[in-house]
Amino acid sequence: MYVNSADQAFSDHVALITGAGSGIGRAAAIAFAEAGAHVLGIGRREEPLKETAAAHANIEVLAMDITDDGAPAKAVSDAVRRWGRLDYLVNNAGATAVMPLAESEQQVIVDLLALNVVAPSLLAHEALPHLRETKGTIVNVSSTYGHRPMAGGAHYAASKAAVEQLTRSWALELAGEGVRVNCVAPGPTQTDVMLHAGLTQEASNEMYAYERDRIPTHHVAGAEEMAHWVLRMAEPTGRHATGQIITVDGGLELI
Ligand SMILES: NC(=O)c1ccc[n+]([C@@H]2O[C@H](COP(=O)([O-])OP(=O)(O)OC[C@H]3O[C@@H](n4cnc5c(N)ncnc54)[C@H](OP(=O)(O)O)[C@@H]3O)[C@@H](O)[C@H]2O)c1
Repeated sequence: MYVNSADQAFSDHVALITGAGSGIGRAAAIAFAEAGAHVLGIGRREEPLKETAAAHANIEVLAMDITDDGAPAKAVSDAVRRWGRLDYLVNNAGATAVMPLAESEQQVIVDLLALNVVAPSLLAHEALPHLRETKGTIVNVSSTYGHRPMAGGAHYAASKAAVEQLTRSWALELAGEGVRVNCVAPGPTQTDVMLHAGLTQEASNEMYAYERDRIPTHHVAGAEEMAHWVLRMAEPTGRHATGQIITVDGGLELI
């Protein structure tokens, strides 16, 4: 359960959350729904989305690839058609790529930027007129490696650095209109993200074990721990914070 008294403010609000079929996005969808918001969860695969929808009556889902032409407009208009408003855009869908410079491939770079940078930008663009009406909030999802170097993952790190600069720049641009833009930067979090990047289960387990040793708290977070901060960055009572990147990584960024 994520709900506390401050969460009454989410009642009847509407959240559009990308990557809601798994990991942090699913946990965020449940967190917003438990806090009283209507949630439209987006992802490519229908089955995992249905599982997310089954977790709470406030969650509805739409299967689509957000990098497709016209998809961001369709996602936003679908949410507004269902509930008549949009209060929160959570740009969570993203991918990582293990790719040393010597092995860089054009298509991998293009696809990574299309998902991690271009699609969130177009979703924010489409959401903006509605967020202006509701004085809503965008929460982007970056990574510790959005502000730390990542040997062997430079393009992932660069894509998340872009997300952090989009956050700050949009926040400044929109502050006078009451639209806030904030960002959660997770450290290593136990999800299937590395499997989705093509690693074997064994290699993924090894990566998490390595990170657990390095993280000062020696804890790899669960997706719910990230969802907690996504919800907190969105809550209306926190209105005075905008343009902020909250790193949630057990102190990893400090070393
Ligand atoms: N887990 C970590 O250690 C970690 C650390 C730092 C940052 N992050 C960030 O946290 C976010 C969530 O990652 P996660 O760990 O929860 O991993 P995940 O389980 O792989 O989540 C990514 C989600 O994005 C969706 N997605 C991918 N491509 C899409 C597309 N083209 N269109 C629509 N949806 C798409 C996926 O669903 P479909 O495949 O069904 O489309 C999936 O549900 C990402 O931005 C990631 O970079 C994760």
